[in-house]
Amino acid sequence: MKAYEVKVLGTGMYAPKKIVTNIDLESIVETNDQWIFERTGIRERHICSTEGGEFPTDMALNATRDALKAANLQPNDIDLILFASVTPDVKLPNSATILQVKLGITNNCACLDIAAACSGFVYGFNMASAMIKTGMIKNALIVGSEMLSREVNWKDRNTCILFGDGCGVAIIGRAEEGSDSLVYSSVMSADGTGGEFFDQPVGGSVTPITKEHLDEGSHFMQMKGKEMFKVATRTLAENAQKVITEANLTLADIDWVVPHQANIRIIETTAKLIGVEMDKMIVNIHKYGNTSAATVPIAFHEAIMDGRIKRGNIVLFDAFGAGLTAGATLIKY
Ligand SMILES: CC(C)(COP(=O)(O)OP(=O)(O)OC[C@H]1O[C@@H](n2cnc3c(N)ncnc32)[C@H](O)[C@@H]1OP(=O)(O)O)[C@@H](O)C(=O)NCCC(=O)NCCS
Repeated sequence: MKAYEVKVLGTGMYAPKKIVTNIDLESIVETNDQWIFERTGIRERHICSTEGGEFPTDMALNATRDALKAANLQPNDIDLILFASVTPDVKLPNSATILQVKLGITNNCACLDIAAACSGFVYGFNMASAMIKTGMIKNALIVGSEMLSREVNWKDRNTCILFGDGCGVAIIGRAEEGSDSLVYSSVMSADGTGGEFFDQPVGGSVTPITKEHLDEGSHFMQMKGKEMFKVATRTLAENAQKVITEANLTLADIDWVVPHQANIRIIETTAKLIGVEMDKMIVNIHKYGNTSAATVPIAFHEAIMDGRIKRGNIVLFDAFGAGLTAGATLIKY
């Protein structure tokens, strides 16, 4: 079987127009800007408009249009859509198929949603690269798009201050002859025994939502922050080291790390554990908060757009999330 190399052809992002600052939150829950910023690094987050036009597939449509332009591709050049989200537009059909229609794709490309929480984009990236490497597909669109504002309890100060809405996408494809872009190595892992650290048990087949749940607010996402913090830093560091070792590279070879943006202290601790200086970590959590599957592609896109990440740079994606899922990827951009 012929093996192909993988190249990031284009990226895009969409941030909802409405910005909610920490100061705004002070009038919603008992909190303050200083506490939020010191404990999390977040100053503000973007929140989707519920009047329409900013639901997860709408954001993905906007972001994908930019990525297609950057990749110099037409919608029908996409062979696969992987849509990572824990907040899809609807339960059925999947968001990837809704996006396929919005993009005007008529080639019947495969469409799949990935529910791997904050690791969803990296899972998608790794799965699509494997399919490109074998020649099974040529171009894949990987989306991380979340409207977490719908699923957080705006009365719970432990969680509502942390999250935001947004979307990031990447189109990856077969690298052309002579290109030195590639995917060196990738890892995907999960430890289901930590599922209860961050869950949303109400609203599925086992426990459909009742009026009581709605009254109590028990249908929203629930998180044990301290437990998540500890496992996140350990796992992010382990997976980063795994992909670097597997690629036969050293820390000195890494130009940029694009970590999941959950908390600046998680990013700083992970950098220390890996042994990377903070000036190699792409950080934008102050502007968006934790947008789950969207954090890595948004941070990646912004760093490409502002000229930090350049062609030929070696870039490490490192994500961790509910499940507990985790994934890392090492690429030459
Ligand atoms: C949630 C998180 C910011 C909390 O930070 P922390 O340093 O662990 O804070 P604690 O939970 O110990 O709370 C410290 C105090 O602040 C209070 N507090 C909690 N939320 C607050 C808020 N929004 N504003 C003000 N005070 C708050 C607590 O009630 C507690 O008060 P007490 O000591 O009187 O009980 C932190 O644990 C975290 O980011 N965890 C990772 C979560 C995450 O990113 N998950 C997703 C990963 S994909």
